[in-house]
Amino acid sequence: MNNFMYYTPTRVIFGRDTEAEAGQTIAAEGGSRVFVVYGGGSVVRSGLLDRVTKSIEEAGLAFETFGGVKPNPTAEHAEEGRAKAEAFGADYILGVGGGSVIDTSKAIAHGVANPGVSLWEIWSKKVPLSKSTPVSAVLTIAAAGSEMSDSAVLTFVERGFKGGINTEFNRCRFAIMNPALLATVPKYQLAAGVTDIMMHTMERYFIPGISCEMTDEIAEGLLRTVVKNGRLILKDPENYDAMAEVMWCSSLSHNNLTECGRGKDFSVHKFGHALSALYDYTHGATLAAVWRAWAEYLYEDAPERFARYARKVWGTAEEDDLKAAEEGIAKTAAFFSEIGMPTSIEELGVIPSEEELDKLAELASAKKTLTLTRIKPVRYAEIREIYVNAVKKRG
Ligand code: NZQ
Ligand code: ZN
Repeated sequence: MNNFMYYTPTRVIFGRDTEAEAGQTIAAEGGSRVFVVYGGGSVVRSGLLDRVTKSIEEAGLAFETFGGVKPNPTAEHAEEGRAKAEAFGADYILGVGGGSVIDTSKAIAHGVANPGVSLWEIWSKKVPLSKSTPVSAVLTIAAAGSEMSDSAVLTFVERGFKGGINTEFNRCRFAIMNPALLATVPKYQLAAGVTDIMMHTMERYFIPGISCEMTDEIAEGLLRTVVKNGRLILKDPENYDAMAEVMWCSSLSHNNLTECGRGKDFSVHKFGHALSALYDYTHGATLAAVWRAWAEYLYEDAPERFARYARKVWGTAEEDDLKAAEEGIAKTAAFFSEIGMPTSIEELGVIPSEEELDKLAELASAKKTLTLTRIKPVRYAEIREIYVNAVKKRG
């Protein structure tokens, strides 16, 4: 087991009607002028935004709202929010929504605490982040895990770049999670969320050569739980207990618990972010579209790891490691298809041109500077090859 530091400071407030606690929790933390961020309107239609702002008012705090965050949120929009938050004199940022809203809230929090520094300067690490504004979340979709993660992902439209920064300043002070709020999430987004949760766990799991039994068992248990309950919520989004399981999996998959002693890879995310940067596809769907090609490229170099995954997560009885690994990959792809996710870029919605394949590989390799995966070195040429293998739909 490798050395590790595990620190997960977010206060989790989980369960029915917990959104009513937003105001008093912010007040207890010393917030007084709350900038409330939301997305395209689902929280307006459901009445959640009203309930949250009412709780802020009842706690005696001032607030201003800022909506319009889109999936694959842009830095340009976050800069707009940051200017409004500065003008309002915000001392606390609250995201009411999913990963896109929470990441925008984190960006606004960093911007407000660092006047005159652009979000690009922060994201490109030209200016190291040394302070931020308190930020918290009322979560409305189980997917990105931003509610407990140390990450925030933005798209810089003019630069054609989508990417994240990892910093402890990205940790939410609290995350309110009421599974009942997720009943209205569209099924495609629920399935993309299930995929993203699986991927956050698998991106930490497929690192060979390290003995890490407890962390492996947590990861495998999480994967079995999200597969089982993912099926249930797609049949019946009103199934509170199943939704609660998936929601809790979302947070635990990305608060670093499943990397303790092993570390993380996140190479599939690099492939996915490039697809979102170029075509603006839903995050979880981009991961499903490339995962099989990624796994097929690598499993022969880590057969025992893929075989263990197949046996522990999918119940494969096959004793030969290579055959078990192949079965595990096939079962994962079949699950993605079953829940309506693509298993190829074609099914995602596009057949990239040769130039677009070059561009995708350039984005995923950060202009040919990155070497991906912890299984074997995957550079620009191999990344392009994996994209090519991922294009065509298979029977
Ligand atoms: O905008 P609204 O109207 O709220 O609609 C959203 C949006 O269209 C809808 N939705 C959310 N909750 C709903 C709902 N609709 C009805 N009822 C509800 N209760 O779902 C759509 C997707 O929302 P979004 O916030 O984009 O989803 P998600 O949580 O998957 O976030 C995706 C973003 O997070 C980033 C992704 O790259 C992507 O940009 N990620 C952030 C990470 C992090 N900060 O740690 C890690 C992830 O790997 C990921 O990269
Ligand atoms: Zn993700």
